[in-house]
Amino acid sequence: MRRIRVIGIGPGDPDQVTLEAIAAMHSVAYFVVAEKADDDQLLAARQALLARHVPDAKVIAVRDPERDRADPADYQGAVTDWHEARAEAYERVILDHPGDVGFLVWGDPAFYDSTIRIVERILARGQVEAEWDVIPGISSLQLLAARHRIVLHEIGQPILVTTGRKLREAVDAGADNILVMLSARLDLDGLEDWQIWWGANLGTEHEALVAGRIGDVLGELNESRDAVKLAAGWVMDAYLLRR
Ligand SMILES: C[S@@+](CC[C@H](N)C(=O)[O-])C[C@H]1O[C@@H](n2cnc3c(N)ncnc32)[C@H](O)[C@@H]1O
Repeated sequence: MRRIRVIGIGPGDPDQVTLEAIAAMHSVAYFVVAEKADDDQLLAARQALLARHVPDAKVIAVRDPERDRADPADYQGAVTDWHEARAEAYERVILDHPGDVGFLVWGDPAFYDSTIRIVERILARGQVEAEWDVIPGISSLQLLAARHRIVLHEIGQPILVTTGRKLREAVDAGADNILVMLSARLDLDGLEDWQIWWGANLGTEHEALVAGRIGDVLGELNESRDAVKLAAGWVMDAYLLRR
């Protein structure tokens, strides 16, 4: 039976791809990769990574269906429709191209990535018959911790992982050790006395790090974020906040 392999490729540095992931990359006939726009920077980053580890890789780029952003109140509904549209688009490619299929997932597939859900949808549609597996990758959260040389939680204490959109909810609920991903911008008002360990474009040539009391480093944070975006053309940041 053919195989679908969901492969974590780490957060950007070709050195941070595991041996297991490289073996999995060599085992598939082709990769299906979402293309978000004409100048999709992450597509270019994935291609650089493939050039290093699987130079003869066959990549099929699939233009990402548009997500309906008209009704912000129905975020969940819009994402579900978008996942179904992606599943349909990938299903078409998989049916047209025989052999084992690889999906390359930024970081680790278990953190804020929907590839696993989309593969489940493809299989639930009933047209594609395949076994599937998941190869873990190094997450940007792990790289953030390593770069700052920190443990993400205090001894025996919990940690909450959330999105920029849900940060306020976490603070209001009393969480005091929060990892934040997917921030469209930095909104840290009222958190001046918290500590932050911030990293942008980790593992890439434009990597930037800032740490300290938020009230003291806010200017530096905003400047660094803008500078990375200008230099790289994109910015992805993750940070730990501690009360
Ligand atoms: C769609 S999520 C994917 C997370 C990914 N699965 C992981 O394990 O890192 C994208 C978010 O991950 C974080 N991220 C991914 N790569 C990053 C990098 N190289 N540097 C900093 N943050 C990164 C950012 O918070 C970004 O908004």
